[in-house]
Amino acid sequence: MSPKDSKRNDAYNQLEAGSKRATPIQHQRAAEIQPFGKVTRMPIALDEKTRAASAENLNQLLADTMTLRDMYKKHHWQVAGHTFYQLHLLFDKHHEEQDELVDEIAERIQLLGAISLAMAADVAETTMIPRPPRGREEVPVQISRLLEAHELILKEARTMAKQASEAGDDGTNDLLVSNVIRTNELQVWFLAEHLVDVPVVRADEKAAASAGH
Ligand SMILES: [Fe+2]
Repeated sequence: MSPKDSKRNDAYNQLEAGSKRATPIQHQRAAEIQPFGKVTRMPIALDEKTRAASAENLNQLLADTMTLRDMYKKHHWQVAGHTFYQLHLLFDKHHEEQDELVDEIAERIQLLGAISLAMAADVAETTMIPRPPRGREEVPVQISRLLEAHELILKEARTMAKQASEAGDDGTNDLLVSNVIRTNELQVWFLAEHLVDVPVVRADEKAAASAGH
């Protein structure tokens, strides 16, 4: 260290002196205040068994919804072909709507006294949606993957809605029916119509005749 450097360090030390209480305390760790899978007591007039069962279902749905949300962004970025513009926009719109569902599901898990999954690695371990390749795929393949993910979510959401209703957890039932099921059904319609094989410019008279019309 040159005499000049040492002089500079002394100057910095002098500047820091007296500011200790205002200095951020970094690199702290401590035991978790609630382990994953445990529920706290929450005064919402639902017993802990009901809240734990609803939370477990909702965490599965959360992992699948986060995966579908991220698949929409993947396809938003990677879409190719003459329908690029409309699909680029549609995929992003559905991504936004799925992201809202993610927040609603996660916050319901927390208000039930449980812990919502959050990090990508935990989501990847939990989701039942098959992992798509990293590379780009054609539009019909992208849409097929999305439709299959939607149907998996719709199937589990309907089962979970029934279970929540039977257990008296009306709030979870309402979230599943009014938000998750209704949103996913509508998105399926907007996707599925893209896989109907109709001509873009010239009507296919031969196809109509062979279909008996
Ligand atoms: Fe974008």
